[in-house]
Amino acid sequence: MARTATVGFTGAIVACLLAFGGGLGLGADRALAQAPAAAVAGPLNIDLPADWETRFIRYATVDKAARKIIRFLYVNPEAFAAARPGQPLPNDTLIVMADRCARLGPDGNPLLDQQGRFIADPPLIAVAVQQKRRGWGESYPAEWRNADWEYARFNPEGTRLASATTPESVRACFTCHIQTRPAQDFAFNFWDFVQTRR
Ligand code: HEC
Repeated sequence: MARTATVGFTGAIVACLLAFGGGLGLGADRALAQAPAAAVAGPLNIDLPADWETRFIRYATVDKAARKIIRFLYVNPEAFAAARPGQPLPNDTLIVMADRCARLGPDGNPLLDQQGRFIADPPLIAVAVQQKRRGWGESYPAEWRNADWEYARFNPEGTRLASATTPESVRACFTCHIQTRPAQDFAFNFWDFVQTRR
């Protein structure tokens, strides 16, 4: 093996980061100019608890072949316990989607474990969060309001992403989730999990 572990590792991170940023479609922002009381809306409402990785419940992992990443999905234990099938997710549900790079074989494809799942490189590369709290959605215009959900992005160390502090900066989150999951309380894997868990 000619290249060092460090070089290979860095290359993988960059590839994953590019894939993630490109997939979000965060672009030109407008829209919230129409919203009353915009000062109280936005990603700054969401605080990522320092202990989320140990305290929250990891209810799913999703292998994303196209991006060669693994998404680790966590929720706060209170919402995990209180969520019921067919009902809106509980007030104060906080879902964390944390991405890691898949380890690649010599052919550039993800290595698989005994269960046929991707194998993660330990470091986080991206953290996206959605949280709902009564009243949070009130100042959003109807066309992008997601009930009372807010969205935010954090750096892997848990600090807030500097480019994601305004409502406009996370508008793509609202528009994609409202287009695809309006009947599932704007959530994905956690909603599906709650419907079918035993
Ligand atoms: C183009 C569509 C799209 C955009 C834009 C988008 N998402 Fe999502 N989101 C998804 C899909 C699809 C999933 C399900 C996970 C998967 O398959 O990757 C998801 C899942 C999630 C989850 C986990 C939900 C659950 O129930 O498990 C969170 C949290 C989340 N997104 C936050 C965000 C944030 C924050 C942003 C903006 C920075 C964002 N999303 C932008 C489509 C999108």
